Amino acid sequence: MMDFQHVINSIHDDLKHEVNRGLVANYIPELSHIDANNFGIYLKLISGENFSVGHSNTPFSIQSISKVFALSMAFNFKGDQLWQRLDVEPSGDPFNHLSLLELENGIPRNPFINSGAIVIADILISQLDNPKADFLNYVRELANDNSINYNESVATSEKTTGFNNYAAANLLKSYGNLENKVEDVLDFYFHQCAIEMNCEQLTSAFFMFANHGVCLQNIKRLSSSQIKRINAIMLTCGFYDEAGEFAFEVGLPGKSGVGGGIVALLPNQFVISTWSPGLNPKGNSKIGMQALEAFTTKTKLSIF
Ligand code: DON
Repeated sequence: MMDFQHVINSIHDDLKHEVNRGLVANYIPELSHIDANNFGIYLKLISGENFSVGHSNTPFSIQSISKVFALSMAFNFKGDQLWQRLDVEPSGDPFNHLSLLELENGIPRNPFINSGAIVIADILISQLDNPKADFLNYVRELANDNSINYNESVATSEKTTGFNNYAAANLLKSYGNLENKVEDVLDFYFHQCAIEMNCEQLTSAFFMFANHGVCLQNIKRLSSSQIKRINAIMLTCGFYDEAGEFAFEVGLPGKSGVGGGIVALLPNQFVISTWSPGLNPKGNSKIGMQALEAFTTKTKLSIF
């Protein structure tokens, strides 16, 4: 078997002293204090072995990575009816751009840009008795870890500065694509983004996407066909207007967040997560992308 520990150690060694680490997100004030030198990698093989290096046990704000959990939950409730309210095309635009939303009559391009995730949050609010508690429980169950929590300061920080998301939600409402109140939908959306997890917990929670919908606790949560579709959306839309670049460099379905986390996976083989808070101009972790490019190049393990 390949020496995975050696592979991730060498990638970590090569990148940990890189001077140009990108910029920590500052449009959410509470995220701007995070030390850009944090850098962790966690690799979970489907066969059961685990490998880690660096800050793989430090919790961080998962931000847009939460959009994959929200999509999974909504897909489970609604099935293909979901696609009446949003599309599955890459946007080619930054994650917070609104222009396409107006051109396309309030139907977001995909569930991973902010407007699409706001529609998913609306669908979940209509379905769940206690949206925040139920969503957190779902993530805890997927990760098989009850210590996962919301960071209330991050949620509040985004609530007081998230004018762009208020604009998106109001535009959706004006097109009739939001059932619930703007305030309620955004409160839920900001909380969902403010969940904190570490690299290990993220690889656990994403296990089902590499395992035909069967989670770590051996419960079948989504059909193989639904998992195929979510992985396809991760590949084509998981990195916003850099999805092409991520497929080109790394060659795995995955999802990033402005907290600097990335999770990527190879079906039937592994889930890998990186955390390095500095972002490139497109909002994806700079060192994380480099680490994953090195990983699939060194191991020759990618979907292509
Ligand atoms: O709504 C926002 O802007 C953030 N809560 C999430 C954005 C995000 O993580 C996009 N990631 N690359």
